[in-house]
Amino acid sequence: MPAERTITCRAFAKINLDLRVTGVRPDGYHELRTTFQSIALEDTLVFAHIPGPFRIDCDDPACPADRSNLVWRAAEQLWRAARRRGAPRDVTVRIVKKIPMQAGLGGGSSDAAAAIRALAALWGIKLTPERRLRLAAGLGADVPYFLAGGTVLGTDRGDRLSLLPDLPRAWAVVVVPGFGVSTKDAFGWWDRDARDGQDGPRRRRRPRFAVRGEANDLQKVVARRHPIVATLVAALKREGAYQASLSGSGSAVFGLFRRKRDADRAVAAVTGRRRKIFVARTLRRRECRRLAAN
Ligand code: C5P
Repeated sequence: MPAERTITCRAFAKINLDLRVTGVRPDGYHELRTTFQSIALEDTLVFAHIPGPFRIDCDDPACPADRSNLVWRAAEQLWRAARRRGAPRDVTVRIVKKIPMQAGLGGGSSDAAAAIRALAALWGIKLTPERRLRLAAGLGADVPYFLAGGTVLGTDRGDRLSLLPDLPRAWAVVVVPGFGVSTKDAFGWWDRDARDGQDGPRRRRRPRFAVRGEANDLQKVVARRHPIVATLVAALKREGAYQASLSGSGSAVFGLFRRKRDADRAVAAVTGRRRKIFVARTLRRRECRRLAAN
């Protein structure tokens, strides 16, 4: 008998306060040094014990409901960890999607981390923290971060984590242009530009929260293909953001403000056709954990 029959989780988005590409690994992945930060923009996942094949049911038709969804792969991994045979079954996951996809906000990875937590509880699987982290890292480089939440430094592929003190409360204006960027493509552009001498991998150390230049090394390569990215970052800075950049590999850009009313005021400067805009506060780690399961 499962301990609980329905579990509801919130899966929060992240932004990358900074992101340095510090090298390329033999497996083709890039070595990073990045600061993740949770924000109050979330998907909601409801895990229900419903007899029959495992199912994903998402309100956004663009969200995959098959094995290409990391939630599905998380379910397979946990099913295996529980030493059960065959394919996972008897659970339907309803996903209410608010985090835009291919935006660099970690929606798919956050959903996967929520699935690890919820399905372990639903199926009564006890995982050591190390095993949970390994399982998460096997799903994607960003997934381990979402098991922690808050302000976290990620190195290696972004999956070696050091918890940092919470960022002082800020308001993020997140602008998602009318197109997405695949992470694989963005790193491919990075490689190509490095090869062509446009922007070689940078070994020089810069302050963690860069004041000048771009806080995110991928911003230049993405903006070269999508110039609107640089335009939006500049507009947010003009509106008084104390920091603004691309998030992850994009396409979303964000600007940080100390006061909500300044964030709200900045929205008019970045509004545009087919763009999505969110004003979301940053979340402390404890808040993130408390709200995730409520
Ligand atoms: O790990 P994840 O599936 O999220 O990564 C998607 C793709 O992004 C990888 O296949 C890889 O091409 C690229 N990537 C990378 N270096 C990282 C993270 C991702 O090259 N640190």
